[in-house]
Amino acid sequence: MKPRLKFEHIYKAFPGVQAVRDFSLEAQSAEILALVGENGAGKSTLMNILSGAILADSGRIFLDGEEVMIDSPRRALELGITMIHQELALIPQMSVGQNIFLGREPRLSTLRAMVDWKELYRLAQQELDRLGLKISARDLVQDLTIAQRQMVEIAKALSYKARLIVLDEPTSALSEREIETLFDLMRSLRQHGVTLIFISHRLEEVFAVADRIAVMRDGQLIGVKAANEISRDEVVEMMVGRELKEFFPKANVQRGALVLSVRGLKRGKNLRGINLDLYQGEIVGVAGLVGSGRSELARAIFGADRVEAGKISLNGKEIQLHKPEDAIRLGIGFVPEDRKAQGLFLGQSVRSNIVISLLNRISQLGFIRFKLADELVEKMIRQLNIKTPSVQQRVRNLSGGNQQKVVIARWMSLNPKVLILDEPTRGVDVAAKAEIHALISKLAGQGVSILMISSELLEILGVSDRILVMREGNITAEFSRKEATQEAIMRAATGQVDNQRLSLQSQTV
Ligand SMILES: Nc1ncnc2c1ncn2[C@@H]1O[C@H](COP(=O)(O)OP(=O)(O)OP(=O)(O)O)[C@@H](O)[C@H]1O
Ligand SMILES: [Mg+2]
Repeated sequence: MKPRLKFEHIYKAFPGVQAVRDFSLEAQSAEILALVGENGAGKSTLMNILSGAILADSGRIFLDGEEVMIDSPRRALELGITMIHQELALIPQMSVGQNIFLGREPRLSTLRAMVDWKELYRLAQQELDRLGLKISARDLVQDLTIAQRQMVEIAKALSYKARLIVLDEPTSALSEREIETLFDLMRSLRQHGVTLIFISHRLEEVFAVADRIAVMRDGQLIGVKAANEISRDEVVEMMVGRELKEFFPKANVQRGALVLSVRGLKRGKNLRGINLDLYQGEIVGVAGLVGSGRSELARAIFGADRVEAGKISLNGKEIQLHKPEDAIRLGIGFVPEDRKAQGLFLGQSVRSNIVISLLNRISQLGFIRFKLADELVEKMIRQLNIKTPSVQQRVRNLSGGNQQKVVIARWMSLNPKVLILDEPTRGVDVAAKAEIHALISKLAGQGVSILMISSELLEILGVSDRILVMREGNITAEFSRKEATQEAIMRAATGQVDNQRLSLQSQTV
């Protein structure tokens, strides 16, 4: 049988980077093929070529034995290739249904120029229901959570009769349960003969769902193996080209004075009277399901959202946070969850993005000392291993994981007193993840107090001195590093709490 998909000697260069070189690979029908590799390895570029978003410089692509020219996204769709992008591509101001049927709305049989809205919403709802999503086709996309938006993208992709579906990091914003739903769906699509290409930095997921694993490094295919014939360590070694110590032993930091203290913080259903203490040099992990209020807590402490009640004190003095600038001025830094919307200036250079909050510190007598800025930027690029041809590269042109590192670099170079990290390693490869963990640890060692939200329990367990679990706007459990286990955290996050020590939460304000 002819392979469903065949890449033959694909090349693609961008200014300063050979993103894909001499790449050849086959995928079969009814197969889930994982594509893994470090940030900037060329995965998204290759998939953008496949989905018609960009053209290869040379090379050939075959579908079911026939050579195809994929010169536009429309052509890819006609050929039965759909792609769920790493960066969400929905139009926020439109409804879910409008987004799903954008450009191919069903028309009224009587008046062909008119959209048949009733039919559109009926069909869209059908797609959503098929995925078991509790989303109405009439909801506006802007009212959905990131996780829900991602599920809508998947519903949209599936609504095209696809023979090849590419999922570029589809799970990074999903909760465990949503991920399971997605995997079940992928398996059932495979059963119907569909080929799925799955990109993820979470190797547990790759091993859970993929039949074969293809590894890319520096634009090249390093190897492809059946998932049951290769170990996790071997995959990592192929990815980074060396053996990697993935988990840094957490340094034992003597915790210092009380730095940040939060009492009775309230904001609607998301924050129902939160009490929290953060000490100098301490890393506090915040676990919980998507929607439990974790990000809202972070945003409130950063002054990004108004709160209805509550007190925040820094070094024993009550502070008023009306906007993020107030927090920044006081030494509170924040790496947000939705980097695209809240963290990055995509049209600007890597340098500007890193030094933007630093300008006050390095500008003297009104002009910026570029040399000092450049030294700092170069240092951060080295330290975090940010893959970019130069400090002048626009952030838009960096790979997803490298964009993420730029936001972290900005805050690290600011020397904050308190650093709030919301999913700091989402979309980041294993090597960089270990580097970021080591850096977080190092910052704590230098006396920075860190509040880290993460959906990855292993990350929470590996990095935190103390762990808080949130559920439905409350902190429902607290564990010391020693007491914490995955099971105990999951129980607290889902509401099956045993009698946890919650001294602080029972205090009245
Ligand atoms: N439009 C562009 N202009 C310039 N360079 C680009 C562009 N798109 C990608 N690149 C570069 O090509 C290389 C490959 O990027 P790509 O996005 O394919 O990586 P990736 O494997 O998907 O990484 P990640 O895991 O971080 O998403 C990177 O060095 C990136 O900076
Ligand atoms: Mg990518």
